[in-house]
Amino acid sequence: MAMDVEAARRVPPKQVIVRVRRYDPEAKRMWWQEYKIEAHRGMTVLDALLKIKEEQDHTLVLRYSCRQGICGSCGMTINGTPRLACQTQLTEVVSEANPVMTVEPLYNFPVIRDLMTDFMDFFNKHRSVKPYLIRKDKEEQESPKGQYDMYPDEYLQTYQYTNCIYCGLCYAACPVVAADPQFLGPQALMYALRFVNDVRDEGWGERFLIVDTEHGCHRCHFAASCSAVCPKAVDPAGAIQALRSKLFRYRLGLYKRRVSKVVGPPPEKGERIQLPPEATLLPGVDLKKLEEEPVVIKLPEE
Ligand code: SF4
Ligand code: SF4
Ligand code: FES
Repeated sequence: MAMDVEAARRVPPKQVIVRVRRYDPEAKRMWWQEYKIEAHRGMTVLDALLKIKEEQDHTLVLRYSCRQGICGSCGMTINGTPRLACQTQLTEVVSEANPVMTVEPLYNFPVIRDLMTDFMDFFNKHRSVKPYLIRKDKEEQESPKGQYDMYPDEYLQTYQYTNCIYCGLCYAACPVVAADPQFLGPQALMYALRFVNDVRDEGWGERFLIVDTEHGCHRCHFAASCSAVCPKAVDPAGAIQALRSKLFRYRLGLYKRRVSKVVGPPPEKGERIQLPPEATLLPGVDLKKLEEEPVVIKLPEE
């Protein structure tokens, strides 16, 4: 759900009605509040909310930071769908025929106030899958002597998942999180695969144990609502399927993959990196091609 360039070119209705679901934690009161704003071409939902906050109601609470789809903090439910407010053009959600837009906090998250939600549980689940490199040689991990080797194709096994911006839209869209609040959820499970796939990591056994529970990857029923709303095309639903398949092979004692080696210090400008000759078990890696065309680090000219 990246920024829709065509939508940014269109002109929204002159006047847009914004219906915001508000919450006052002191009074424990929830209510709908309606605002009318003058809209203009290129206006996002975040722009509209900030205009309301600046010109009509400074008590409206929301979270945002970068305004460009990077920090992941402006997630909210817009016309019933989890979206990033800064990446949603008004023209995507209102029209001349229907100039009314509803804005609510993200579902599946406790509400702190108005549109601001509590991410503590989400991040605790993320942390629970050990989202960091684990090496068996603890001494080497604490005091590294060099860098780990990694083929370009191996890097691509993790790249898509590293694009996650922790916005929680997938978690808000997941019907299983709604039914089972202990379910690890799409983001944490996707991140478990991100490190299982990383050839620099040796902690897959620990992670498989964490996700192989009644609230782990088996709870997912693959409706893929999580992937449909992800603004970074991470595809957590596909990641969970891949994780389950690898877990199944692990349980049968058939899971194995290459573990990268510690190689020399960082390369000098223009230096050719000698990759180790052993075969990799990852599919799609053409070792012969890599040997013929070694990776050359190109640094910018000074
Ligand atoms: S695919 Fe799984 S994790 Fe994603 S929304 Fe559906 S049940 Fe939730
Ligand atoms: S997987 Fe996508 S939707 Fe989920 S937290 Fe990461 S970026 Fe957001
Ligand atoms: S404000 Fe940072 S992603 Fe929207």
